Amino acid sequence: MKLWGGRFKKGESKLMEDFNSSLSFDRRLYNQDINGSLAHVKMLAKCGILTENEKDKIIEGLNSILSDIEEGKLLIDGDAEDIHSFVEMNLIQRIGDTGKKLHTARSRNDQVAVDMRLYTKAKAKEVSSYIDELLAVIKKLADENNVIMPGYTHLQRAQVVTFKHHMMAYYSMFSRDKKRVLNAIEIMNESPLGCCALAGTTYNTDRDFTAKELGFNKPVDNFLDGVSDRDYIIELNSCFAIIMMHLSRLSEELILWSSKEFDFVLIDDEFSTGSSIMPQKKNPDAAELIRGKTGRVYGSLMSILSTMKGIPLAYNKDMQEDKEQFFDALDTVMSCLKIMSGMLSTLTIKEQNMFRAVKRGFLNATEVADYLVGKGMPFRDAHGVVGSIVLYCEEKNSAIEDLNIEELKKFSELFDQDVYDFIDYESTLNRGIKKNLK
Ligand code: ARG
Repeated sequence: MKLWGGRFKKGESKLMEDFNSSLSFDRRLYNQDINGSLAHVKMLAKCGILTENEKDKIIEGLNSILSDIEEGKLLIDGDAEDIHSFVEMNLIQRIGDTGKKLHTARSRNDQVAVDMRLYTKAKAKEVSSYIDELLAVIKKLADENNVIMPGYTHLQRAQVVTFKHHMMAYYSMFSRDKKRVLNAIEIMNESPLGCCALAGTTYNTDRDFTAKELGFNKPVDNFLDGVSDRDYIIELNSCFAIIMMHLSRLSEELILWSSKEFDFVLIDDEFSTGSSIMPQKKNPDAAELIRGKTGRVYGSLMSILSTMKGIPLAYNKDMQEDKEQFFDALDTVMSCLKIMSGMLSTLTIKEQNMFRAVKRGFLNATEVADYLVGKGMPFRDAHGVVGSIVLYCEEKNSAIEDLNIEELKKFSELFDQDVYDFIDYESTLNRGIKKNLK
């Protein structure tokens, strides 16, 4: 059954019907579709286009559809073309001819646009709350583990940092992600309802009323843009892609750190899996899956960007392709944020192993050079001297701070007893990173 067909001589082929149908994926918009219709019908009555009685009947019908869906009494399936047709046809079945008046001064073009904006806005807020949870988990983990660890560049041990400072880098990243999501919500917060197919309507409607009723800041300025703008989907998908990139980098670190080679952290059993053949194995599948799923979120972004790039104004059916990929990206980013929060809130930090890696990594070499510079040696020369000390230590299998002062003096007369305090890891941290830690 269809909402159109008057000008057709033949029915649609089954093949085409299946190809065209979006019900299987846009059914998740049922709540927004019904709420959009409720606002629309109130506006129609307010503007004298429907009677109060007709409005009440339609509202009652729509509310009964909503509660039946929510209580599982009405399943969203069958041969309706999309969720909009499904709800409207159901309404007509329930309340008869009055139901046929719902679609006055509206098109499915502005209907789907308003449904998607409502849905996207609500879900983006949910994403932002998952980011908040993750931020709190990161902060707690960082505060509880203000311990020394090696800092890396080129994945080579570079200078001493703290685990706290390392984790707070991710705190900064996810804080930016949250701002990006909230900013995208702010930009998209305009109502397309009332743009109709592309050119508005000859009825005297009130777009300000529906915009306010649905919680938008204002109606969109331009009808053609209102029905064919999918920027907010692209923008949010791009926010999601950046979130996934951050989650993936963090996952990569957790994978490395939980390997025997690093052995810095223990991922809890709750977020690990075993091997079906190698009994000793504990695999960081949660982190690997997040890293893997990053690709599909990037893919969704490329998909919607490509779909939109050649579409003339205004609505074209290509735009139906905005949904599946976007929903997938949304579901993915939400589950990955939750999994990451779970994984980090149960993570065990192996402080001793991190400290051992610091000692074995000559992570105070830069500070030894800085010490010599403080005693008057040019930095480039100091760099060379310390390079030779590192070579010597490697042969002796010892750390710089474990050399006695006579050994150090062989490399430079400038070394004195105070060097040991200066290159001590804690004092290095106090002079450096910890000074700047919030
Ligand atoms: N399922 C359609 C979509 O997602 C709804 C809009 C249909 N509009 C139309 N003119 N056929 O884009």
